[in-house]
Amino acid sequence: MFLDKKQNLILAPMAGISDIPFRKISYDFGADIAVTEMINARGLIEGSKKTYSLMRIDKREINTGIQLFGNDIEIMKRAVEIVCESNLNIKFIDINAGCPAKKVIRGGSGGALLKNLKNLEIMLNSVKKVSNIPVSCKVRIGYDENTISEIVDAIKSSGVKIITIHGRTVKQGFKGKSDLSWIKSFNNDKDMQYIISGDINTPDKAVEIMDKYPKFHIMIGRGALGNPFIFDYIKDLMRNGYYNRVNKEELFKTIRKHYKFMLEVFGDYGVILMRKHIGWYLKGLPESKKLKDKINKIGEYSDVIRELDKYDRN
Ligand SMILES: Cc1cc2nc3c(=O)[nH]c(=O)nc-3n(C[C@H](O)[C@H](O)[C@H](O)COP(=O)(O)O)c2cc1C
Repeated sequence: MFLDKKQNLILAPMAGISDIPFRKISYDFGADIAVTEMINARGLIEGSKKTYSLMRIDKREINTGIQLFGNDIEIMKRAVEIVCESNLNIKFIDINAGCPAKKVIRGGSGGALLKNLKNLEIMLNSVKKVSNIPVSCKVRIGYDENTISEIVDAIKSSGVKIITIHGRTVKQGFKGKSDLSWIKSFNNDKDMQYIISGDINTPDKAVEIMDKYPKFHIMIGRGALGNPFIFDYIKDLMRNGYYNRVNKEELFKTIRKHYKFMLEVFGDYGVILMRKHIGWYLKGLPESKKLKDKINKIGEYSDVIRELDKYDRN
């Protein structure tokens, strides 16, 4: 089981974000588990190079899961077999049944799977049977209304024992607040392990939930952008009752380290991929918008570092 009894902190799967470098940085700052962005099951069975590249896992990753999306049971089964045969250093395979992106929904995958729970149950049961790695499932609280009890029942019947619930409906997308009222209903459920997702974006909020619901696990997505330190902050707050924010020196050290990982994994393209992260890291610092705009126009790693150093010294 990839979830142990302690309250694991998990880096959320985020398309275009939860890549090797960001997962590694998050582990360095206290994440216990990380999930890849969603990977197209059909792309895997068709041998798409781009899809395969999303499945890369670094040797130094400690507890990573691969997330798959798709809607065809046979394709999902084959994709799970491919993942298992690839002997990757992974701990679990997560099935995406929550993505609200139009393209994904139109294809019957992601959140669309919540429209037919019998089918979801059969799919999960089928992939579980061919997998020698634990299987989990990530869902929303419903498709267009809250049907989380039925969703959990279907997943339970499939034999899958780990579920991540993002407290919004698929229709909601990212609008409104994440409704965490579902947590109470499953507080006494000993059969399943639950991971809570949605708007847990401060250490205080995380610890409030963890104190109240010690059996649940916490997933952090947007709260970790430019702030992978959040995992350590949560652990410090839980342990000591307080946490110290990283200072400017530590922040810039982390940006440089993250940047190095980016170049290691993606070569020169890492310069482009790193831009959004730098924007997130710099958010809220004086005159950071100017620096961000400048960096977004630079194509060379050494020139970006020079600009960061200049800013850091001032
Ligand atoms: C940019 C972005 C990409 C995402 N990509 C995925 C994905 O590939 N698979 C998935 O299950 N959820 C995805 N999510 C949803 C997150 O995993 C998470 O459930 C959601 O953002 C709510 O948590 P948060 O408020 O902590 O961000 C994505 C979210 C964002 C913001």
